Amino acid sequence: MDILIASHNEGKIFEIKKYFEYFSINFFDLKSLDIHESVSEPFDTFQQNSFHKADYYSAISGMLVLADDSGLEVECLNGRPGVLSARYGGEKLSDEERNLLLLDEISDFNNVKAKFKCVLTLCQSKQWVSIFEGECEGLIIDKLKGSNGFGYDPIFFLEKYSKTIAEIDTEIKNKISHRAIALKKLSKFLEKNFLKV
Ligand code: IMP
Repeated sequence: MDILIASHNEGKIFEIKKYFEYFSINFFDLKSLDIHESVSEPFDTFQQNSFHKADYYSAISGMLVLADDSGLEVECLNGRPGVLSARYGGEKLSDEERNLLLLDEISDFNNVKAKFKCVLTLCQSKQWVSIFEGECEGLIIDKLKGSNGFGYDPIFFLEKYSKTIAEIDTEIKNKISHRAIALKKLSKFLEKNFLKV
């Protein structure tokens, strides 16, 4: 089966492909299909933005589309950056600058609890839609550590591993992350409905 991953984010695309490496699925992404249109993410929930992306790209491609809307919610910032995670502080900031901005914003708080959230939407040209969600809890540490992953991984500390997500291997991230939890639900759905032997 063919699935278009509706994303330009190399980190997400890598993790999704890696998760399904032993499944008989041909993954495409927007770049590989020369789709340059980018879609707005105007809503204030991950669910709405995820559906919006999946719906938009399945309409223009006619393919079975998988969209991922995800982000970081920090408790002491009342859930910010949330749906703004990708563009927090402005579109032009690098991941590192965005992490430093966040560390600066929380420097006066004692509560450093945070959560990654992921909402995956699988959509076939308006005919049907399914969504799969995952969350991962952690703490924001006071400096960047590690070079794996992407986005806020270098400041997101997992107590169980005593490491940031950027310090653990993709294999482990792909078992415990918000995206991994959502992908597991998606894989069960695909096995039941599409990949029967
Ligand atoms: P989206 O493309 O609007 O879904 O924004 C996702 C943004 O959330 C990314 O650009 C990252 O900043 C952040 N994010 C989502 N998932 C992860 C992750 O697994 N690690 C680190 N940051 C993430």
